[in-house]
Amino acid sequence: RAEVVINDSSSPAVVDRSNESIKHNIKPASSKWRHNQTLSLKIRKQILKFLDAEKDISVLKGTLKPGDIIHYVFDRDSTMNVSQNLYELLPRTSPLKGKQFPSCAIVGNSGVLLSSGCGPEIDAHSFVIRCNLAPVQEYSQDVGMKTDLVTMNPSVIQRAFEDLVNETWREKLLQRLHSLNGSILWIPAFMAKGGKERVEWVNELILKHHINVRTAYPSLRLLHAVRGYWLTNKVHIKRPTTGLLMYTLATRFCNQIYLYGFWPFPLDQNQNPVKYHYYDSLKYGYTSQASPHTMPLEFKALKTLHQQGALKLTVGECD
Ligand code: CTP
Repeated sequence: RAEVVINDSSSPAVVDRSNESIKHNIKPASSKWRHNQTLSLKIRKQILKFLDAEKDISVLKGTLKPGDIIHYVFDRDSTMNVSQNLYELLPRTSPLKGKQFPSCAIVGNSGVLLSSGCGPEIDAHSFVIRCNLAPVQEYSQDVGMKTDLVTMNPSVIQRAFEDLVNETWREKLLQRLHSLNGSILWIPAFMAKGGKERVEWVNELILKHHINVRTAYPSLRLLHAVRGYWLTNKVHIKRPTTGLLMYTLATRFCNQIYLYGFWPFPLDQNQNPVKYHYYDSLKYGYTSQASPHTMPLEFKALKTLHQQGALKLTVGECD
């Protein structure tokens, strides 16, 4: 069976292991990759100089009150008022307070996950992070089901739920939120001015329908702190993607970190087309100058960390 390994060249190589008598079992680290504990701890320590995931993962109730005015992180001239609903949903203590997990999966949304069979491996991790409310049920064989934290950029409400134009879309969102079943829903509410109403709609639904999720709203300093860390390490990102944010936060509370669905390229290592998202028909936008992200650059940095054993990237089939 062909196994994808990340090597020193610019694209991953394919190693034919069909003749090897390797016992494949569904365990996170089953290939030659070895975790570098010393490096992981060093990275955690360095990142702690810029941010503390335990604190920056969410603004807490004690620090805001209804009516407070917040300047958006990326639109400093625009402000929002802290609504009663938002205030009610702010956590009293950090949802990650004192948490340490032996292994975490961070699931990006690349189409490279399709036909990967990675679902069982992903679900075997102690903490699973997903991005932008990506659907799981129909893709469970490849992406798994377990969700401990899921992010939701306000734009997802427009992109995936048609801005709740009618009852059908409201119902779809409600079902997705109900399926989260106690996990952390991480909403960057204070980043850009465009998302204001969408965040309010979601907050209202959660409260009205008593949805069992633990809401978290990242701190105002998080984005700049994460960018600062990577810039200091000579990774010149414009604005960190959700995936990179999640990795940076995870270093605080995860011993080993495994990344799936990170592949910001239109072709796979065999030159076959790869969808931008595993679940929709969105086209590649990461190369455009207009995009705030520099995904291939981020990927290069993550690949280097993979080679050093600080994290494990899976970009092909799972064992
Ligand atoms: N990703 C990737 N390759 C892709 C698509 C996504 O590596 N082809 C990673 C990125 O780190 C991205 C994450 O998976 O942040 C989640 O994907 P997506 O929901 O598409 O994020 P975007 O909305 O594109 O970007 P962001 O939420 O970061 O603004």
